[in-house]
Amino acid sequence: MITQKLNADRQGINTAAEILKNGGVVAIPTETVYGLAANAYDEKAIKAVFKAKGRPQDNPLIVHISDMEMLNEVAEDIPKTAFRCAEKFWPGPLTMVLKRSDKISDCVSAGLSTVAVRMPSEQTAHKIIKESRLPLAAPSANVSGKPSPTTYTHVINDLDGKIDAVVMGAECTVGVESTVITLAGEHPVLLRPGAVTIEQLKEILPDITVDKAVLSELAPGQKAASPGMKYKHYAPQTETFLVEGENFADFVNTKQNALAVCFAEESEQIKIPKIVYGTNTNPETFANKLFGVLREVDKTGVKTVFVHAPEKSGVGLAVYNRLIRAAAFKVIKL
Ligand code: TXA
Ligand code: MG
Repeated sequence: MITQKLNADRQGINTAAEILKNGGVVAIPTETVYGLAANAYDEKAIKAVFKAKGRPQDNPLIVHISDMEMLNEVAEDIPKTAFRCAEKFWPGPLTMVLKRSDKISDCVSAGLSTVAVRMPSEQTAHKIIKESRLPLAAPSANVSGKPSPTTYTHVINDLDGKIDAVVMGAECTVGVESTVITLAGEHPVLLRPGAVTIEQLKEILPDITVDKAVLSELAPGQKAASPGMKYKHYAPQTETFLVEGENFADFVNTKQNALAVCFAEESEQIKIPKIVYGTNTNPETFANKLFGVLREVDKTGVKTVFVHAPEKSGVGLAVYNRLIRAAAFKVIKL
């Protein structure tokens, strides 16, 4: 298959919408990460998405919408709190798990009775959904298990020749995937942290709790509230450790054949090869760089990489959640 490279202009958007209406698979930019989109109502197209990514069949997809009418089409028994969250955080990086309507197939929801829905704010994504007049099921546009793509080059590196087209939009502004919450149970639960923070969500959902799998490994046989949580994810090939604590520079300076992923503030003290992934005082900076850096790690040829863990608050919680998976839960506490 030859993957068409489309510009993020009117013509590119129209072509992308045409391909999607005809059952094709197109990688599109969103504000969080690039998504691999297909018509949410077309089972054959959805199967092609799973195949291109090599994604396990039991991991459901997020459905992307452009207006509230589409929400009523894909979900049912929508609680009032969902409308309040939509008002505050949509369009934007929040995904809500709701009861699914009959229009959503087992294929999209991996057999669950729920559907995950999000309204992206990125204009190209918004226009493609609007133009195609279809809700688009879209996982991140990476090969399953690899870091999510935040540029179209990442997408091409992973999926060239395996998908119909890629829309060459801008670098993603947020850089980590959307916050996922479920409103389908008795109480709201945070399933995956993102740029919409738990602190912000508490203003509308004071009783929201954080799922155990956000910060720890599931015990063998334990059921995941969000199937994506059980897989090793975002992992470089290089053995990765997450390091918590203040004396990061002293710790890594004793290591050989290793790379440090650090904050700008401590960079000068570090004497081994290093990549700066943002400023410690501003989590948005390292959220934005995280996946690009994880993709760089393997190019350095070192044996081990040590990543300095951020604080687990604000967007820092999202970054910590991705890093602990990239490190396959190997955490060193200094
Ligand atoms: O920002 C994002 O969310 C990006 C862009 C493309 O929108 N998409 C994304 O999709 O990250 P994906 O497939 O890589 O991650 C979706 C996560 C998975 O962990 C999956 O298990 C969970 O959402 N999920 C999807 N449907 C669910 C459902 N019905 N119940 C619980 N979790 C669900
Ligand atoms: Mg993903």
